[in-house]
Amino acid sequence: MAENQMEVLLTADQIETRIKELAREITEDYRDKKPLMVGILKGAFVFLSDLIRYIDIPVEIDFIAVSSYGADTASSGSVQIQKDLDQSIQDKDVLVVEDIVDTGLTIDYLRRSLNSRCPNSLKVITLLDKPDRRKVDYLPDYCGFNIPDHFVVGFGLDFNENYRELPDICILDEYKA
Ligand code: IMP
Ligand code: MG
Repeated sequence: MAENQMEVLLTADQIETRIKELAREITEDYRDKKPLMVGILKGAFVFLSDLIRYIDIPVEIDFIAVSSYGADTASSGSVQIQKDLDQSIQDKDVLVVEDIVDTGLTIDYLRRSLNSRCPNSLKVITLLDKPDRRKVDYLPDYCGFNIPDHFVVGFGLDFNENYRELPDICILDEYKA
């Protein structure tokens, strides 16, 4: 489906404005620190790269990749790390950067895994949150937008590896998960 046939939920301008606000909050909250920002591949790479350019303190960057479970295994919450961090996070101020929190199972698993590695602090920033679909009780520390229960693509988010390049966030509801 072409982008011009999809309904735009959030425009590139709206996203940029909100990312600047989030970057100001993070600059304030991590003043005198050097957070390690951990992007969850692949969806979060666009958000992460925009965010760090508006943050006004030094940061470190790393990436982690996790398997996406099939629909039948979603309830088990079994998530696997496909590519781990390149470094120890012991005593670091870790800020996990996610594209979207949906059921919450992925971020719940990751938080438990990363917390066991003894960071000084661990927080989560997500561009999007779909609280209606939550299966675990979880509220991200920073959130760009709460959105209704739609399947969305663009700005790094995909459907079967398509649409990540779209500058807007669009609704692809016929494939709603
Ligand atoms: P959760 O474990 O259900 O919270 O799922 C989180 C992951 O599912 C996200 O990191 C995305 O990769 C994917 N996901 C959930 N909802 C959407 C969506 O609307 N569009 C694209 N990917 C999504
Ligand atoms: Mg993801």
